Amino acid sequence: MNDIVLEFRGVHKAFGGPDESVVLFEGLDWSLERGKAVAVVGESGTGKTTLLHLAATLERPDAGEVLVGGRATAALTERSLSEVRTRTLGLIFQFHFLLKEFSVLENVALPSWLAGVAKKDSWDRAKRLIALVGLEKRGNHYPHQLSGGERQRVALARALINDPALILADEPTGNLDVRHARAVQDLLLDLVDREGKSLLLVTHDPEFARRTGRVLKLIGGKLEPV
Ligand SMILES: Nc1ncnc2c1ncn2[C@@H]1O[C@H](COP(=O)(O)OP(=O)(O)OP(=O)(O)O)[C@@H](O)[C@H]1O
Ligand SMILES: [Mg+2]
Repeated sequence: MNDIVLEFRGVHKAFGGPDESVVLFEGLDWSLERGKAVAVVGESGTGKTTLLHLAATLERPDAGEVLVGGRATAALTERSLSEVRTRTLGLIFQFHFLLKEFSVLENVALPSWLAGVAKKDSWDRAKRLIALVGLEKRGNHYPHQLSGGERQRVALARALINDPALILADEPTGNLDVRHARAVQDLLLDLVDREGKSLLLVTHDPEFARRTGRVLKLIGGKLEPV
């Protein structure tokens, strides 16, 4: 198995037109080893979420290449990318994108079912994960019936349903009180320590960042050790 789970090679990314463009990355080279966690910190607007979107193959680089699990993604079709996302990546974003027509249980179980796992097995695993994030009584509720922090925890359960090798998390504790934030931190760090998952975490919480053991600051389009 390849021991690099995520690699940026000469990645360029800018937004906007020629007059008002926001240049975020001009040849970023960076990689994350399998089984390792890293926290990315940095000021608002420096490109942390964009970095995660590039890693998640939700944004394509203007130039350069992003490799996920050793696989170059630039030339892949949308269908293959979606397969990479479903099988390899667990995405926890600032905006959780739960499907509002579906219950908590359905939201968590669907990616597993869509990946071809039997319905009962998908639903059973979803129930376990929902319990793990402390929402066992909320399986039949709909996203609009939940608080922001509860939705964030549903998104976390959903991100873990397909046992992803690489977890990409954008401020996963941003809406949580101290107790629930701590529980989410423990859960994510345990997945790295005990199950060999890789974690790319963006957080504004210095304590959470420190707990990953490796903190990088995004500044001027480069990831600098803190
Ligand atoms: N789709 C887009 N179109 C135009 N500009 C964009 C787009 N996405 C991001 N940007 C710009 O790129 C810059 C970086 O955005 P990004 O969301 O990556 O920042 P961030 O580091 O995650 O900030 P925060 O800490 O506030 O979440 C911002 O100036 C933003 O306005
Ligand atoms: Mg952001």
